[in-house]
Amino acid sequence: MRLSVFGCGYLGAVHAASMAKLGHDVIGIDVLPEQVAMLEAGTPPFHEPGLPELLAEALGSGRLRFSTDASAASDATVHFLCVGTPQKRGEFAADLRYVHSAVEALLPLLKPGDVVVGKSTVPVGTAEDIAERIKEVQPDAELLWNPEFLREGFAVQDTLHPDRLVYGMADTESARAASQALDEVYAETLADGTPKVEADLATAQLVKVAANSFLATKISFINAMAELCEATGADVTVLADAIGHDARIGRRFLNAGVGFGGGCLPKDIRAFMARAGELGVDQALSFLREVDSINMRRRVRMVDLAREECGGSIVGRRVAVLGAAFKPDSDDIRDSPALSVAAQMQLQGAEVVVADPQAIDNARKKWPDLTYADTALDAATGADLVMVLTEWPEYVKLEPAALAAVVRGRRILDGRNCLVPEAWRSAGWSYRALGRP
Ligand code: UGA
Repeated sequence: MRLSVFGCGYLGAVHAASMAKLGHDVIGIDVLPEQVAMLEAGTPPFHEPGLPELLAEALGSGRLRFSTDASAASDATVHFLCVGTPQKRGEFAADLRYVHSAVEALLPLLKPGDVVVGKSTVPVGTAEDIAERIKEVQPDAELLWNPEFLREGFAVQDTLHPDRLVYGMADTESARAASQALDEVYAETLADGTPKVEADLATAQLVKVAANSFLATKISFINAMAELCEATGADVTVLADAIGHDARIGRRFLNAGVGFGGGCLPKDIRAFMARAGELGVDQALSFLREVDSINMRRRVRMVDLAREECGGSIVGRRVAVLGAAFKPDSDDIRDSPALSVAAQMQLQGAEVVVADPQAIDNARKKWPDLTYADTALDAATGADLVMVLTEWPEYVKLEPAALAAVVRGRRILDGRNCLVPEAWRSAGWSYRALGRP
């Protein structure tokens, strides 16, 4: 099939390459010429394991192209909307300008029978507005809503082998016919036994934000338990293991630490609260305010812990921050807890040196005042305190003795509960973590 993908960021680039891998002819459209040039050259503009190989294969097959010119999508019959919906500056609500401009660029190209498929995360009600706009211009085109659940770091795997496919559609004959086109797009995925859930447009949009809200709540729940553990001397990692054995609870997303960040969970729960307010049901989501607060408190607690470890003041102390990305296997620094803590420490007078295997270039652009090092050992050289804030495998594997040889003080704070305390303590380190004695 001929497909177009509007928006070639984290979601769209992976989606476009994956659809080509599934055998479709795909044109990726993006307004950023640098992004398009990099993708055309087979270089993803961001770090995503497996994507360089997938892009190379798809470009090599001749089935994947990129363009800044929307009219290049005029041959396609199924058009995916994959643009970003960031948080509005100074507000909780989502900024829909990229969605609207992608739709406006697409409208003049629509032919009878074309299907527009929304994948971006949007406030419920957006799809209905887009559907109306499409019908005004091309009454014989249809809108479906097909939210995306990929995780950065596992984006290729999640796109090719998703947990489920959600199809949102109006209750009409023509929408049901359009959903058959989507079945054709995902023929291989469906043949693999991937569950398909059909829903109305509102439910499909809500599924996405409900899923992210649940995940954020799960993380903040365990971080709230970490606060209790800190007050009582209990160990949140043991608590998580113990409750996680209950299949109804499950152990995943119960890792306590410095909390969630990234371009999705924080802004999605805020946009969800803003939308609930508009709908007059803000009370239904008031718990998300607490989820957000618990999350932000963990960053403050991390700085407090650093101060305690440094004997009451961090002024003039040299601190190595290991991790800048919001999570491992990503170079994404959007709302990164690690960088937020690093910047706070620096503002409060510490001399902070940040290392990260992938995210330093992005971090330097956003926080030029922080000092950066290429490796953990470089960052830790002469440090009074080492803080592990993103659990990159190479940081988890760090040898206490190797680090001890370069630091000024053997003090380590584990912001992700990813290190083995005994290994550090027996090597003469003061080890502290969030929610753990
Ligand atoms: C999240 C969702 O997991 C995806 O399903 C969704 O498709 C995506 O948002 C999206 O909306 O596009 P992502 O932002 O890539 O994916 O990252 P996650 O793996 O969810 O991690 C989010 C944050 O939570 C990270 O900062 C991570 O360190 C933190 N986290 C995760 C914890 O603090 N504890 C945990 O147990 C798990």
